[in-house]
Amino acid sequence: MFRGDLADEEEAISCYTRAAMHVAELGDIGARALFETIVLDEEGRQGWLDLQRDLIERLGEKTCSAKLVAFGDDDD
Ligand SMILES: [Fe+2]
Repeated sequence: MFRGDLADEEEAISCYTRAAMHVAELGDIGARALFETIVLDEEGRQGWLDLQRDLIERLGEKTCSAKLVAFGDDDD
C-alpha cells in the first residue's frame, strides 16, 4: 500500500539533497536552506510511511485500517 509513496519520498529526498548541495556550491545559501527544509519535510513523511508499513506488518492491514478510521491520522 505504501511502497509507491515510499519510493516517491526516497526519490524526492535524493533530488532535493542534490539540489541543496548544488546551490551550496554556487554560494546560494538561501536556496540551500530552502532545499534542506524540503528534505527534512520529505524525511518526516518517509518516517511516517515507514511506521505505517511496520504497523501493517506487525498488526495486519485490517487492524491498522480500523485504527485509522477510529482515531484518524495525527498528521492534520
Ligand atoms: Fe513527499
